Amino acid sequence: MISTPHQIHDAFASVFSKNPTLIVRAPGRINLIGEHTDYNDGFVLPAAIDKAIYFAIAPRTDQRCVLYSADLNDTYEFLLSSPTPSSKTWANFLIGVTAEITKETAALTHGFEVAFGGDVPLGAGLSSSAAVESGMGLALSELFGLEIPKMQLALLAQRAEHNFAGVKCGIMDMFASIHGQKDCVIRLDCRDLSYQYFPFDVSDYQLVLCNSGVKHSLADSAYNTRRQECEQGVAILKQLYPNIKSLRDVTLAQVEACQDALPANVFKRCRYVTGEIARVVAACEDLERGDFEAFGTKMYQTHQGLSQEYEVSCEELDFLVAQAQDFGLIGARMMGGGFGGCTLNLVKFNEIEDFVKTISTVYQAKYHKIPACYEVNITDGVSVIAQTSTQN
Ligand code: GLA
Repeated sequence: MISTPHQIHDAFASVFSKNPTLIVRAPGRINLIGEHTDYNDGFVLPAAIDKAIYFAIAPRTDQRCVLYSADLNDTYEFLLSSPTPSSKTWANFLIGVTAEITKETAALTHGFEVAFGGDVPLGAGLSSSAAVESGMGLALSELFGLEIPKMQLALLAQRAEHNFAGVKCGIMDMFASIHGQKDCVIRLDCRDLSYQYFPFDVSDYQLVLCNSGVKHSLADSAYNTRRQECEQGVAILKQLYPNIKSLRDVTLAQVEACQDALPANVFKRCRYVTGEIARVVAACEDLERGDFEAFGTKMYQTHQGLSQEYEVSCEELDFLVAQAQDFGLIGARMMGGGFGGCTLNLVKFNEIEDFVKTISTVYQAKYHKIPACYEVNITDGVSVIAQTSTQN
């Protein structure tokens, strides 16, 4: 596993027999609150974390693009003139970004060699794929002097995910990996893409992730179905409120007033989303007051909504959250797209060891596997961390 810039440098040097021109770090992300709201034009509250994907890249003189996954010890090659999807899933994220940049700027004059790898656990809801796309975007932008603005980078990474990975994701993950700022969470308005940093000064608490070990693949999950259900809801609600464009434009009370007009599952999805959008706004007020107990209570409410109304949780995640509540944590919830992955827990500093031990014991007794628990810290977003001019 790659977890330092030196390791990716060395992996590149041994595979391509030269030094890379650039090293880039692209972090995974957590999301404090605001789940499944991004593609409904709502608010999210993510942050970049100290788990990342590293890239080492150098230009070639011809049109060949050679990709090397250090974690899988696998390579893939394509021509700049035909960046089309591959049967190698891992390669598609990188090909997709290359294709989107080429479409947008047509400025890649020659090929490149890139090695990448990192310590963002896969399928854990920490957006390893967005980190790969964001890092690849910055690496190409820097290597070819394209100076792509940050938000444009996030949007093209999102298009790569749509067009090459088949997940109709929102903008949150790429946005967070690119715009992250140390010790801050970012409230993003996914409608107009304006954002604000909030210091996340949890001096008495530590953010701890518990990985259920249930691997999710959003491409195979009901993620795209949820998105369609929300669109179906908007189409029906539009008949009553013609000016609405998305669930952002409706209140929870308006959705409740329309219950009879909506299919039962669509009603539940709309109810959750409108409630969650309002919850993010209220949660930011909690942060400004330094009221972590109120913030934590909202995390539990989000979990309840994701589990019962949005129906994207699973038995193992519900169990982990229930155990966290029994332990007395002020806040815990499943995080990310769902159907597996991690729970996010707000744990008092002096209780971390006890919490991890307790949750591991009960989880193992029930599911016969130990959940990996990680303390996570909030870091800066994607950046170039080393640049060399000499190539061997
Ligand atoms: C995944 C998607 C995001 C977002 C979350 C749920 O991580 O990539 O765009 O929709 O699920 O909040």
